[in-house]
Amino acid sequence: MEAELPIIQGGMGVGISWEGLAGSVARAGAVGVVSAVGTGYRYPGLVKRDRLGRPLGSKNTHHGEALKRIVREAKRIAGGRGAVGVNVLAAITDYGRVVRDAVEAGADLIISGAGLPLSLPEYAEGSDAALVPIVSSARALNLICRTWKRRYGRLPDAVILEGPLSGGHQGFKYEDCFKPENRLENLLPQVLEAARSWGNLPVIVAGGVWSYEEIKRFIEMGAAGVQVATRFIATEECDAPLVYKELMLELEPDDIVLLKSPVGYPLRVVRTPFVERLLNGENGWQGCASNCVVPCNRGEEAKKVGFCIADRLGLAWLGDYEEGLFISGANGWRLRKQGIIPVERLLRMLTGKEKDPTL
Ligand SMILES: Cc1cc2nc3c(=O)[nH]c(=O)nc-3n(C[C@H](O)[C@H](O)[C@H](O)COP(=O)(O)O)c2cc1C
Repeated sequence: MEAELPIIQGGMGVGISWEGLAGSVARAGAVGVVSAVGTGYRYPGLVKRDRLGRPLGSKNTHHGEALKRIVREAKRIAGGRGAVGVNVLAAITDYGRVVRDAVEAGADLIISGAGLPLSLPEYAEGSDAALVPIVSSARALNLICRTWKRRYGRLPDAVILEGPLSGGHQGFKYEDCFKPENRLENLLPQVLEAARSWGNLPVIVAGGVWSYEEIKRFIEMGAAGVQVATRFIATEECDAPLVYKELMLELEPDDIVLLKSPVGYPLRVVRTPFVERLLNGENGWQGCASNCVVPCNRGEEAKKVGFCIADRLGLAWLGDYEEGLFISGANGWRLRKQGIIPVERLLRMLTGKEKDPTL
């Protein structure tokens, strides 16, 4: 599979990259990615919910039929151009079932990170979807390749190297996110070397990649392409509610912070009223309805960190500024000068065909 543009729009859960964004990105010749987490929020009529309106259990939270509808609609919007992938977080409960849902939905590729997707080929068996793990080190890539080769006799079709400026979960400990050796450009040479040793796997870089000049620089260093997420939040076609997009246009660098997440990794979010209260010691956990991710242990970790990630990302998708949790990459504050623009214009900026007002 080869996309016209070497740009993947990163999967954004809950509901930030569904059919509208992924379909429009693919239609413009790049790779659009649907997020498979929390799809129960997209079609509430299909799912069982509790009295607070939260999807019940992981079957209703990461809902199979909802995902299939989203992917089919994204492909319809794409009209046969580009490619439509699905991002499945490796830490979710029902991971195998959701990967199979994605395959049945017709995903062209499956991207999987936030944990090591060591069993991904088993769940995607029989499909010709490209399998693309996300890693943050050469060590993780080597482990995945060794395991896949031994167990399944295959290797990843490409790999995404995600550095510590990305939105959402970080594959690093809190203090390691700020170390110079973990900057994307410093991680890339080792990962390229590992990828070469496994037969020239294409390496795609992610995490804070912002402009055409940066994309060019990473490709000159040997990357096969880039994955960009935060910039796509401020597009007309993005599936986020308007409050989310407008919030992104008002940020200062200090408004973007790292929190402890129930998934066990640092999580980069916007400092909103809820985050402010959390940082002041308030606990906003309201019991576990979704059983959404394995490491949370049915709410045990959520109770410790003070929030349920499924509930809070769900509330953000519903447009609740006060109570929701709004993910952003470290460069999110730069969106102010971008404004809310069509996907096609953003891709023209990212390919050097139009002046970029954020620079
Ligand atoms: C709002 C938002 C939600 C995200 N959700 C997910 C997710 O569900 N799974 C995942 O693997 N990555 C997720 N990410 C990470 C992106 O896919 C991407 O790799 C990363 O943000 C790239 O960095 P950038 O945002 O600086 O471009 C999310 C990022 C954002 C901004």
